[in-house]
Amino acid sequence: MKICKVSFPDMRNSGHFISSVLFILFFCTDLAFFGAEAIGVCYGRVGDNLPSPVEVAAMYTSHRIGKMRIYDADQETLRAFQNTGIQVTVGVPNENLPSIASSQETANQWVADNIQPHYPTIQFKYISVGNEILPDTPFTANLFPAMKNIYNALQSLNLQNQIKVSTPMPMSILSNSYPPSAGTFSPNIIPIMRPILNFLSQTKSPFMADVYPYFAYISDPKDISLAYALFQMKTPNEVGYKNLFDASVDALIYAMEALGHSDIPIVIAESGWPSKGNPNGGANISNAQIYNNNFIKHVLCGQGTPKRPNQTIEAFVFAMFNEDLKPGDITEKHFGLFQHTKAQVYPVNFTG
Ligand SMILES: *[C@@H]1O[C@H](CO)[C@@H](O)[C@H](O)[C@H]1NC(C)=O
Ligand SMILES: *[C@@H]1O[C@H](CO)[C@@H](O)[C@H](O)[C@H]1NC(C)=O
Repeated sequence: MKICKVSFPDMRNSGHFISSVLFILFFCTDLAFFGAEAIGVCYGRVGDNLPSPVEVAAMYTSHRIGKMRIYDADQETLRAFQNTGIQVTVGVPNENLPSIASSQETANQWVADNIQPHYPTIQFKYISVGNEILPDTPFTANLFPAMKNIYNALQSLNLQNQIKVSTPMPMSILSNSYPPSAGTFSPNIIPIMRPILNFLSQTKSPFMADVYPYFAYISDPKDISLAYALFQMKTPNEVGYKNLFDASVDALIYAMEALGHSDIPIVIAESGWPSKGNPNGGANISNAQIYNNNFIKHVLCGQGTPKRPNQTIEAFVFAMFNEDLKPGDITEKHFGLFQHTKAQVYPVNFTG
């Protein structure tokens, strides 16, 4: 448990004061790095100029980034994170889903090739099966069978309690998200969602969500204020929310509840803010710096959301680097916290 607001008994006249402060500082910092409450950063690798995986692993360590998420099982990268103590979430790429969904042997082989050689020298936390498969991709029908087969493969190695299986979903799976208490999944994905939620509940695995206040803000700047998107509002709005992030997360929680699941934890698989590419839409360095620092502080500080208060939120910032080969809008190349030179794009406090 990371303590963000500590109230001290009045010990200023006692010699215990300084040592208490030092103890608490040490305690928080240590847990933030080694415990479940460290921040994660997504290691996207869509660039032709990025540092080597060994250098990147050293960057995670020196900046005290306790968790890494990678989108495939690149072996050189995984080798670089062996014995670092950094928790790793590894992705099964979308194009592998059809074969893994249709064959238990293929799923077993994927785990044997990609997980087993690094276990336990890598502390794997999650396998994310596919990326943003829902609401609508050619792989939709493969998603749940692929998750189950990967789970079965882990179970046959007795690793199912150490390594959890989930799948990251974007906010666009909701047909309604405001007010958060009215959060609902789109009707067309509910039949696909039900078995996935049952699976997550039975296997005690989290719902992984990609939550980007930036995209919500640029899609509706008239109704959504920048301050609400950047965690800068002092007082709650008419439905009790001070920031768009909490409102989004709670909308997902209410949507799960509407399908009978109130027990599934949420992990933020991605969140971030671009520093360049759409200045009129708020994509600049100062907004990105404000968003990411406030985001890290918010998820780590144990405040939770109005719906699930008083808990830290496990979360990954997108992304480690600006990625020069990312297709699409210019902003897509500028979500990075670091330049390819390893210099920070702007200062970030990774321990909140
Ligand atoms: C970034 O954009 C915000 C508005 O979204 C503006 O207030 C601020 O001055 C801009 N900062 C820089 C450094 O351009
Ligand atoms: C959360 O913490 C606050 C402050 O300590 C407390 O008043 C409140 O009852 C707690 N809420 C829950 C649901 O535990």
